[in-house]
Amino acid sequence: MAADSGPQPAAAPISLADYERLAAESLDAGTHAYVFGGAGDEVTLRDNLASWQRFAIRPRVLVGAGQLHRGTTVLGRPRPHPLIVAPMAFQRLVHRDADIATARAAAATNTIMCLPTFSTTTPAALVEALPGAPRWFQLYVFADRGVSRELIGLACELGYEALVVTVDLPVTGVRDRELRHPVPSPRPETAAGPRTAGGFIAPADLGGLIDPDLSWSDIERFAADASIPVVAKGILTPEDARLAVEHGARGVVVSNHGGRQLDTVLAAADALAPIVDAVGDQVDVLVDGGIRRGTDVLKALALGARAVMIGRPVLWGLAVDGTAGARRVLEILLGELDTALALAGAPNAAQLDRSFVTTAPWVAERR
Ligand SMILES: Cc1cc2nc3c(=O)[nH]c(=O)nc-3n(C[C@H](O)[C@H](O)[C@H](O)COP(=O)(O)O)c2cc1C
Repeated sequence: MAADSGPQPAAAPISLADYERLAAESLDAGTHAYVFGGAGDEVTLRDNLASWQRFAIRPRVLVGAGQLHRGTTVLGRPRPHPLIVAPMAFQRLVHRDADIATARAAAATNTIMCLPTFSTTTPAALVEALPGAPRWFQLYVFADRGVSRELIGLACELGYEALVVTVDLPVTGVRDRELRHPVPSPRPETAAGPRTAGGFIAPADLGGLIDPDLSWSDIERFAADASIPVVAKGILTPEDARLAVEHGARGVVVSNHGGRQLDTVLAAADALAPIVDAVGDQVDVLVDGGIRRGTDVLKALALGARAVMIGRPVLWGLAVDGTAGARRVLEILLGELDTALALAGAPNAAQLDRSFVTTAPWVAERR
């Protein structure tokens, strides 16, 4: 809509929360449980959101906000901004165009798309649809290591720029909502993930395929074998971050899997700074979980993250309006980030450091 055409209709979503509400109204009960749910009592799911709000911004003024630079460097490559689409399985449950629609939204906003192992689009189809777009591949390690080797080879061959090995899912978390409302299986004709040749994989099959005995030596082997950097996703302690670095990871994603795995683990924002302090000078530290506002992104960068992964909000956009919705979600976040940078007095995102954040006074008062 042109800028001078007056106010948008009341229904047009203007925030990620608007997309959340609209998506909630549009999804069937099983898919709703899959996208919105977390593990157990969902304490961590809620705390991910709250954790960013426990930090207050310490803004500086009169530093000149005319020229904004939100660029960052991730795994040695300059990026125009710090957003990455988190890997999320079974996107075809949410929208018929699935990962391709998400990847189009990512490409339109110059955002890295991380394709999940359990995509409903093959790694090759994604490249064919968007040959030049920046892409990472998320790896779940199957008990059948031959499959993992094949997937790694394929990701390297197809020009995926990083291998994101998810390390926080030896087994699937107890997800009450999914137990109450079983997640629908993707229909055979729409499931095109990498292991669907002789049948197709449903969300309920996941636990049985993934190797619960994945170990640091596997990470070391992947890092040695892959021609692309390995990133360990699902790290919550400095101890594990150090081990990841020792075993060849070039990055870590501080993540509790969006509160979907072990309930009552540390929230994303709380886990971040100690990990940055432990390994931030050796590898790139990324973070995800509960990031819903540009101010959350700013806080993540101030705490030392190189980039942030955005999960559910992208699926909300996808559910509401396919590529256009997912794209708008990313644009809203980027717009909010620009405003936050200008108003916090950090026109260049690279300037952000711990001096821009403090424990919020309202948290201290409650203690
Ligand atoms: C529906 C759904 C599916 C997901 N599938 C995967 C997956 O296949 N692999 C993975 O590493 N993480 C997966 N995640 C976790 C996300 O990558 C990310 O860590 C999390 O969603 C971030 O939190 P947020 O949703 O609050 O932004 C999934 C998350 C959701 C919501």
